[in-house]
Amino acid sequence: MAERIRVMLTEEEVDTRIKQIGEQISRDYEGRQVHLVCVLKGGSFFMCELAKRITVPVSLDFMSVSSYGSDTKSSGVVKIVKDLDEPLKDKDVIVVEDIVDSGRTLSYLLELLGQRGPKSMRLCTLLDKPERRVVDVKVDYTGFAIPDEFVVGYGLDYDQRYRNLPYIGVVEL
Ligand code: IMP
Ligand code: MG
Repeated sequence: MAERIRVMLTEEEVDTRIKQIGEQISRDYEGRQVHLVCVLKGGSFFMCELAKRITVPVSLDFMSVSSYGSDTKSSGVVKIVKDLDEPLKDKDVIVVEDIVDSGRTLSYLLELLGQRGPKSMRLCTLLDKPERRVVDVKVDYTGFAIPDEFVVGYGLDYDQRYRNLPYIGVVEL
C-alpha cells in the first residue's frame, strides 16, 4: 500500500526555514525564557528542530488533543487526551503546531490555554493553508503558506504513516 509522494518542500527548504524562525524567535524573546508547547503528534518533529535553533533559554511541554468529528473535517471541539505537565502561569508561551487548516482546533486550544494565565502566548506553525480557514486564528510565526493540498511528512500523517519523512510531500492517490 505505497502511495506516491510528490515533494512539495524539500528537506533543505524546511530546515532553512526552521532555522530562520528560530533566529526570529531568539531575537523577539531576547532576555526572556520561552516555553514551547507542542501539540502532539504532528508538532513534535517541528518543535524539536525549532528548539535546537533557539538561543534564549527554552523549556518544553507536550499536549495531545483529539478533535471530535470525522478525520477529514475537524469540528473544533477538542478533547484533551494528554494535558500539559506544567502550569502556564506567567510563562511566555509559544504553541507549536504542524499545520493550521480550518483553524478550529487551534482557536479552541488557544482559548483554553489562554485561561491558564500565561504572561504571553503566541502561535507558531510549520504550515498554513490560508484558503481553508473557517475560524480566524492569529498566527505569529509561519513556516510556509501552502496551497490546499493534503500534505504529509515532518510530523504530518496520512492514516498515521509518513510522519517520519524529512520533507513535506503530497499524497497522490
Ligand atoms: P484544523 O482544526 O482544521 O485547523 O485542523 C488542523 C489539524 O488537522 C492539524 O493539526 C492536522 O492534524 C490535521 N491536518 C490538516 N491538514 C492536514 C494535511 O494536509 N495533512 C495532514 N494533516 C492535516
Ligand atoms: Mg495537529
